[in-house]
Amino acid sequence: MGATIAVLSQKGGTGKTTTVRTLADVFRRIGLDVLAIDLDPQGNLSDYFDVDPDASPTIADVLAGRVDATAAVHDGIIPANLSLAEAEIALVGKMGRELTLKRALAPIADDYDLLLVDCPPSLGLLTVNGLVAADHALLTTEAQYFALQGVEQALEVIELARDGLNPQLGWLGVVFNIADMRTRHSREAFATLREHIGEKLFETTVRQSIAYAESAELAVSILDHRPGLAADYLAVADELLTRLKMTELRPRLQQLTASLVEGS
Ligand SMILES: Nc1ncnc2c1ncn2[C@@H]1O[C@H](COP(=O)(O)OP(=O)(O)OP(=O)(O)O)[C@@H](O)[C@H]1O
Ligand SMILES: [Mg+2]
Repeated sequence: MGATIAVLSQKGGTGKTTTVRTLADVFRRIGLDVLAIDLDPQGNLSDYFDVDPDASPTIADVLAGRVDATAAVHDGIIPANLSLAEAEIALVGKMGRELTLKRALAPIADDYDLLLVDCPPSLGLLTVNGLVAADHALLTTEAQYFALQGVEQALEVIELARDGLNPQLGWLGVVFNIADMRTRHSREAFATLREHIGEKLFETTVRQSIAYAESAELAVSILDHRPGLAADYLAVADELLTRLKMTELRPRLQQLTASLVEGS
């Protein structure tokens, strides 16, 4: 049974999409079957994976019940586009609206080792669908003073999803993203989070670099675009394997790290 991870944040621009894209790349390279799911009407993840903008069906068709999830998989991703905004509105009036994604993914979850859901930058119905469908939630935060506030708000929504709809939902922790640890600002924000959430804060911080925007623009994985920089996400992936209790995969990840980072 594939583990489903929803990546979310209260704020926009915290690196959710970059995290989903890059973790999907890392886990695929160590042999896992990964399904990426774009749950954001902006369709950034779909663009980053270079999915044809006219690709059809999309996650909107899946949520509207027009097609099975299998039919909407294009090269390992269920894409999204603006039509998802309409699908979300249509969902609001439906019974079981929070369970729609969970029900849609249930028949295919077994076909994958890992399902990664990229949530939109709001804690609305789509994100709640992501959380209800997930086994685990993963938060990203930008390295800045208000990080703690955003994390606390996202945690409230995780609580909401747990309360009745998905009591089993686990919380993997928070990835401190887009960070410049040379600045006191970033270091203090990290320390504040550490104080409040302890071990839930990933040890690894993801460095700020323009290479990520370039990588998204080119629709090329950061692992290919800047293998040296990929060390950060490889380390995030390693911490994730431990948190997911999938430690048997760590040696493969170490090999990948050696070939990518040490070879660059
Ligand atoms: N480590 C990084 N350093 C610098 N820029 C980054 C980094 N990670 C992502 N970015 C850039 O920051 C912007 C936001 O990243 P991304 O799209 O991954 O965030 P998001 O949380 O998915 O945003 P949204 O909330 O709009 O969906 C993008 O332009 C991306 O290329
Ligand atoms: Mg995004």
